[in-house]
Amino acid sequence: MKKLLEVQNLTKIYSMGSIFSRTKITAVEDISFTVGEPEIFTLAGESGCGKTTTAKIILGFEEQTSGAVMYKDEPIKNLRRGDRNKVLREIQAVFQNPFSTFNPLRTVDSYFYETLINLKIASNRKEAEKKIAEKLQAVGLSFEEFSQRYPSEFSGGQLQRLSIARALLTDPSLIIADEPVSMVDASLRMSIVNLFKDLKERYDVSVIYITHDLTTAYYISDRMAVMFRGNIVEMGPAEEVLSNPKHPYTRLLRESVPEPDPEKQWTTRVHLAESEHEEYLQTGCKFVARCPLAMEKCRKLTPPHFEVNGTSVKCFLYE
Ligand SMILES: Nc1ncnc2c1ncn2[C@@H]1O[C@H](COP(=O)(O)OP(=O)(O)OP(=O)(O)O)[C@@H](O)[C@H]1O
Ligand code: SF4
Ligand SMILES: [Mg+2]
Repeated sequence: MKKLLEVQNLTKIYSMGSIFSRTKITAVEDISFTVGEPEIFTLAGESGCGKTTTAKIILGFEEQTSGAVMYKDEPIKNLRRGDRNKVLREIQAVFQNPFSTFNPLRTVDSYFYETLINLKIASNRKEAEKKIAEKLQAVGLSFEEFSQRYPSEFSGGQLQRLSIARALLTDPSLIIADEPVSMVDASLRMSIVNLFKDLKERYDVSVIYITHDLTTAYYISDRMAVMFRGNIVEMGPAEEVLSNPKHPYTRLLRESVPEPDPEKQWTTRVHLAESEHEEYLQTGCKFVARCPLAMEKCRKLTPPHFEVNGTSVKCFLYE
C-alpha cells in the first residue's frame, strides 16, 4: 500500500506555569506510524494519552517539540505557504462535538457555500449546489432536508454527518476524526462510524480515527495503535491487536470489552494522577506501576519496540 502520511519520532512537550515554577507535560513522546492510501488507522487509548495532541500537530494547529510529519513524502512543516495550504486542504478534520462545529445563529448551508466560494472550489451558486448535493449524498443526506436550516433543527447524528460532508468539500485524501461519535446517540454510532469505511471504499479517503472505544475501532480499522501516556505501546493490524493483544496495557483495555459488540460500549477509563506526569524524564517502562508482569529491568530500562506476529510491542516480555 502506498504511504500517505508518516509521523516520525514525534514529541510534544507542553510547558506550563510561571517562569519560577515550570511544569512540563510530555503529551506525546517519540511516536512513529504511517497511514496508507487508503487506510483507516485508529489511535486508541484512555483519556490524556496524547491522541488529540497528535491530531493537532498533523493538522498544523500545534507545533511539535521534535520529530516530523511527512505528507506524501514531504515534511509538512517545511512546505512553502502555498503548498502547505494545499496540503492542509487535503487533510480535513471532524471533531467530537458537532454542536460546536456550527454556530447556532447561522444556517448550516451557509458554511458549505462559504467554504466552496472562499477556497474557489465553486465559482457560482449552481456549481456549489451540485458539489454540496454530491457530498450530502455521500453521507446519506439529501439537499432538500439540508437547505436553509439551523443547527438546532438537526439531531446530533445528522449534524455529525453534516460535519463529515463539509470535510469532504475539499476532496480530502485524509480525514482526521477525533472521537467523532462519542457525543452521538449510542444507537446511531455504528452507522456513522461505518460511513468512514464507506468513504474509504468509495472515494479512497484515508482516515485517522481517534477513539477510546475499542468496539468501533475493531469494526472499521485496518490498523491501529494503542497509546499509553504519550507512547505507542502496541501497533499492528486491528484484528490482531484486538483479538490477540500482547502488551499488558492492551490486554487490560481489552478485558473491559468482553466481546467486540456495538451494544457494549467500552467505558473503563483509567485516569492518571497528575503527579504521574512528572515522571517524564525518568527511564523505565511507563506502565510499570500497573503492570502485573513487571520485571526488575522494567524499572531501569525503557523498552524498545519488538516485532511479534506483524505487530510492534513496546514491552520487554517480547524481547
Ligand atoms: N494546551 C495544553 N497545555 C498543556 N497541557 C496540555 C495541553 N493540551 C493537552 N495537554 C496535556 O497533554 C496530555 C495529552 O492530552 P491529549 O488531549 O492529547 O489527550 P487525549 O488522548 O486526546 O485525551 P482525551 O481522550 O481525554 O481526549 C494530557 O496530559 C493533557 O493534559
Ligand atoms: S516492559 Fe515490563 S512493566 Fe512494561 S509492560 Fe512490559 S512487562 Fe510490563
Ligand atoms: Mg482528545
